Amino acid sequence: MKSKILKKLRESDGYVSGQELCDTFGVSRTAVWKAVNRLKEEGYEIDSVPKKGYRIVSSPTRYSADEIKSRLVTEWAGQEIYFCQETGSTNTEINQLAEKGMPHGTLAVAECQTGGKGRRGRGWVSPSGVNIYMSILLRPDLAPDQASMLTLVMALAASKAIDECCEVKTQIKWPNDILLHRKKIVGILTEMTAEPDYINHVVIGIGINTNQEEMPEEIKKNATSIRIETGKVTDRTALLERVMYHFENEYDRFEKSRNMGVLCADYNERLVNLNQVVRVLEPGNEYEGTAEGIDETGKLLVVREDGTKESVYAGEVSVRGIYGYV
Ligand code: BTN
Repeated sequence: MKSKILKKLRESDGYVSGQELCDTFGVSRTAVWKAVNRLKEEGYEIDSVPKKGYRIVSSPTRYSADEIKSRLVTEWAGQEIYFCQETGSTNTEINQLAEKGMPHGTLAVAECQTGGKGRRGRGWVSPSGVNIYMSILLRPDLAPDQASMLTLVMALAASKAIDECCEVKTQIKWPNDILLHRKKIVGILTEMTAEPDYINHVVIGIGINTNQEEMPEEIKKNATSIRIETGKVTDRTALLERVMYHFENEYDRFEKSRNMGVLCADYNERLVNLNQVVRVLEPGNEYEGTAEGIDETGKLLVVREDGTKESVYAGEVSVRGIYGYV
């Protein structure tokens, strides 16, 4: 109720009468009054004028389920939100919520993670109060071998969201790292629970180094934050809202064809290694070639010096620039 009232007040230019709130949400005057009081206790400045109603004057810079929910403009992405101050990993949270039958689009957000998970068994540095750590539950109608494309869908959405919200130009390092000034600011970890021919559910976890002021020594060379690169503090709720908006948009486009076809051009335009020589590191097989972008299945097309064309599947492969990370 609180987030619905907040949204309604925010959408209106002037006062919204108590009666209108009662009618819109089918609740009593007392329920509206109680919800408004709770919002005031949480730091929202709300003007209440007899016979006119309520008007929102200012919001605290808060990062909470109510604040996020009241700003979302999506149909399904993030419409159910679980917000925790501290958790092991939001991916684990979502896996548990999936087992309880929560719907497609359910989102877990945490202020900090004590066991943030990265790709290939690595960890993800997750200090409190500065960054975004969240995971979304998907119940896609896809074959298990198509699920890796969902990571690319999220990478494209998050890249668009950051550019829009923070006025920067991010790039994507295939398959799913997002870079700013050629250093990593976003990591995405996709986990799937499936039968041989059927997906039960997919969890896409995304960590955005947002307002962190310094990176730990051991990852400093290749990792950074939006704050470090721009000198500006980003409103995490605003950025999270944009990620959900773009993700829902891109996912709905993707779902129509169940391939990257319609997303390829946007994705390739952001690809940091496009038309550059890269080194492909497959277990037991290393080679160099020119990256020509992704195909409609999300594989990276690499042309070797002798003209042989390779389609690289994400899995265990890693692709680097010939001089290092990019
Ligand atoms: C990577 O190694 O690049 C992937 C990092 C993914 C980190 C995010 S933070 C939110 C979600 N919860 C986790 O434990 N991991 C992902």
